[in-house]
Amino acid sequence: MTNHNSGLFGNATYRVNPYADYARIRALTPVYPTTLPDGTPVLLVTRYVDVVPALKDARLVKNINNARTASRWSRLMQSVFSASNMLRADPPDHTRLRKLASEAFKPKYIAQMRDSITTIANQLIDQVAHQGHMDLIRDFALPLPITVITQMLGVPSSDHAKFHEWSNAIIASGTLSSESTVAGRQVLPLVLYMRKLIAQRRRNLGDDLVSQLIVATHEGNKLSEAELISTTILLLIAGHETTVNLIGNGMLALMQHPEQYMWLHRTPAHIPIAIEEMLRYANPVQLVNRYASVDMEIAGVPIARGTHLQLLLASANHDDQWLSNAESFDVTRDEAKHMAFSQGIHYCLGAPLARLEGEVAVTTLLARLPQLQLAVPVADLTWRSAIELRGLKELPVRW
Ligand code: HEM
Repeated sequence: MTNHNSGLFGNATYRVNPYADYARIRALTPVYPTTLPDGTPVLLVTRYVDVVPALKDARLVKNINNARTASRWSRLMQSVFSASNMLRADPPDHTRLRKLASEAFKPKYIAQMRDSITTIANQLIDQVAHQGHMDLIRDFALPLPITVITQMLGVPSSDHAKFHEWSNAIIASGTLSSESTVAGRQVLPLVLYMRKLIAQRRRNLGDDLVSQLIVATHEGNKLSEAELISTTILLLIAGHETTVNLIGNGMLALMQHPEQYMWLHRTPAHIPIAIEEMLRYANPVQLVNRYASVDMEIAGVPIARGTHLQLLLASANHDDQWLSNAESFDVTRDEAKHMAFSQGIHYCLGAPLARLEGEVAVTTLLARLPQLQLAVPVADLTWRSAIELRGLKELPVRW
């Protein structure tokens, strides 16, 4: 199915540099109709001034069943995986699931992880330091968050590689956001694994995140078996497929601006703000999905009930109507506000962990490999195919 502007996401230029396309459609219209690669029609909300209220608008829901009569497949997917996944739930389910997961995912608990994350980052650099080169994705950005989240969940390190393979397949198939038939098959091995892990922890509680989720209670509520499984899977996937992109995209931007690289090396106290600028500029999560639960308007454009909308966080973050020089990467900004973690009730639960991992990753790289630079021309870099997430397949560097 085609129309005059179908398939923005299919444009060859989009994957290489979505920001030029975002700038073009942002200037053109606040609500841009296009299609997903599978032909599904979707409306893109392009401007900061409209993205922020849309993120907070209770009429825009996550669970498709609250917006239209769902297909049989979608109902099935909802029952096996998504119904109890907070990222795809609406209140009151969402409120309860988030509350219980937050009990186990407290910022205080996260802050205590700085030392163990630093140890992991240093071990990864130890393995490659003598080589003079590495693939920054494969050798650092990917293993760092996956090791952190699997350690938090109490998954044995012998299973880490398997985990990455499964979660990669799920992300590539778009399970978290769309209704793909492939997705169900990809989730199954992880569901079975998690079920076993949860059963083991029930018999023998530890101080890991799975055990904390098992005991978490709020107003007399506990997570059910299905909710435990989907929450742990959500944390696992959300916990590393995004952070790898923060480290990869952020370091790419930094290496493309060597004077900023050297400035940050001399001014490490500014690294937390630089991480915010990396989030704003390099957008590990490009967009979020919502469905209109009623007939409504956005920026004066009528939106029919059931419409699939994508709120372009990355476009909002580059909107110069909101922030001056928004298209420029500048780690010396005094502060870098952004939408990279969303807003409203679905605001990223893992933001404190992601920030800490980003900070430790950049601090360690700058301290240990101050001469880091790209080993290939930028034009040779290739990007992964998921629409929601933007991340490099490889990032060859040398020092
Ligand atoms: C740089 C890294 C990260 C980015 C950019 C990011 C971004 C996001 C965004 C944009 C959302 C909201 C989606 C929406 O509004 O539809 C979200 C939700 C979520 N994120 Fe993150 N995330 C990151 C890391 C993490 C980590 C490390 C974890 C946990 C281990 C995590 C767990 C979650 C969870 C559980 C939700 C669902 C919250 C809800 O629906 O209430 N994220 N994240």
